[in-house]
Amino acid sequence: MRILIVNGPNLNFLGKREPEIYGNKSYDDLKNYLFDYAKNNNHYIEIYQSNHEGEIIDIIQNKYIEFDALIINPGAFTHYSYAIYDCLLSVNIKSLEVHLSDIYKREDFRKISVIKAACEKQFYGKGFESYIDAIKYLNEEV
Ligand code: DQA
Repeated sequence: MRILIVNGPNLNFLGKREPEIYGNKSYDDLKNYLFDYAKNNNHYIEIYQSNHEGEIIDIIQNKYIEFDALIINPGAFTHYSYAIYDCLLSVNIKSLEVHLSDIYKREDFRKISVIKAACEKQFYGKGFESYIDAIKYLNEEV
């Protein structure tokens, strides 16, 4: 399967940012982990990261046609980006929402995902494994 993975702001600071929440591993560690898993399971993945809302939309619009599914962790944009929500509604691709942390056990503002309704399912609270669970789900569903 061909899976597009898009990460939002501050994910590039994994390992440096709030390690008690996001762990000690770096963004490169995350990418390598996902590339290894994909290779071992015969998936083709591309991984993008941007700190900019519009760039995230550009990546999805420019790339979605080449993929079977999208896994998106929009970072804090999850909680207020109607532009990313509209983008997900406008592209014809199965989308899954992923978070490293458990957004339901943190500050109240994180409990709201404005993109949730545009995604088939949410995966959260399991660190890197949240992404793996999303890939496994796709493997069963697509
Ligand atoms: C996050 C959760 C968001 O609330 C936060 O703004 C992030 C990361 C996660 O992966 O747990 O940047 O999406």
